[in-house]
Amino acid sequence: MSFLRNCWYIAGWADEFIKGQLVPRIFLNEKIVMFRDSKGMLQALQDRCPHRFVPLHLGQLENDQIRCAYHGLSFDCSGACVHNPHGNGAIPKAAKVRVYPMLERYGFAWIWMGVADRADPGAIPDFSAMDPQSAYIGKSYLHVKANYMLETDNILDLSHIEFLHGSSLGSAAVAQGVIEVEQHGETVHSKRTTHNEQLTPELERLRGIPAGQRVDRWLNVRWNAPSNMLLDSGYTPSGESRESRESGQSVYVAHMFTPETSSATHYWFGIAFPKTLGEEGRRLAEENIQWLLQPFTNEDMPMLQAQQEVLGDQDFWTLNPVLLASDGGAVRARRLLDKMIRQEQALNELIIP
Ligand code: FES
Ligand SMILES: [Fe+2]
Repeated sequence: MSFLRNCWYIAGWADEFIKGQLVPRIFLNEKIVMFRDSKGMLQALQDRCPHRFVPLHLGQLENDQIRCAYHGLSFDCSGACVHNPHGNGAIPKAAKVRVYPMLERYGFAWIWMGVADRADPGAIPDFSAMDPQSAYIGKSYLHVKANYMLETDNILDLSHIEFLHGSSLGSAAVAQGVIEVEQHGETVHSKRTTHNEQLTPELERLRGIPAGQRVDRWLNVRWNAPSNMLLDSGYTPSGESRESRESGQSVYVAHMFTPETSSATHYWFGIAFPKTLGEEGRRLAEENIQWLLQPFTNEDMPMLQAQQEVLGDQDFWTLNPVLLASDGGAVRARRLLDKMIRQEQALNELIIP
């Protein structure tokens, strides 16, 4: 399977990276070791010593250098070997590892998996809704044994909440919601508006909606390549116009997917409540993320993993999937991503270790 390379993927929550600690992860089939250096910057190196190919994360981090645990070669943040304790200490030319640009923004750690010179901080999509400076963020993570595009299909087609999450997030009005799909440049929007909806009692309680009050709900998802999504979800009392959304409530949920392999995905998700809410915002963030974790873990994850087992290595499109009215956003995103991957491969300049 081919991946888009010249783009930013999520490497984790920024606060997962503590000075002095090595964090090994696999992205796009590549073993990577990451750390926060003494200046507070995020660094990422290929997690494979060029001597006998042991993982560098088994070694020691000292003075922003990783010393291999096996025979003691040391590598700095540029990937260069800077110390050879053997013989005359000369550094062999090939003693270097690949480095990956990293950045911290909106509370996430971002990693660039393509040509390092092309890493453009301006290409990070706007996730300011998740900025921990202005919002309390409930944060979570799941490791899902399914392809990352099955995950993006899942979020871009939220009709599934009626069926898969009927007792929590869904209701009988979702599949008949009004759907709009828009594409602006390389950004896809998949919007769904329900009318006269009766939410589940749990969702009413969490959102502070009077029991039994009918609402119109919007579930607007923005997709940015390769697989990072922001959901704006909100409600107004049923029958009020879209312009009156200020009177409704909106919450932002980020769904960030990074392929580990072609059949496993890192899934970071978070929910934001404005800091203007004070301590109540902090409490809501924690309560809501714990609540969301249940359907995501017990309903989405088993479904996607079962889907992956059926699909195996087969190409999604060659199986001729049936297309429904709700598939517009997901199909648009898949086609756009395929096109971006093809264009990138035509450049034929990628450094693949
Ligand atoms: S395997 Fe790393 S120094 Fe030998
Ligand atoms: Fe779901």
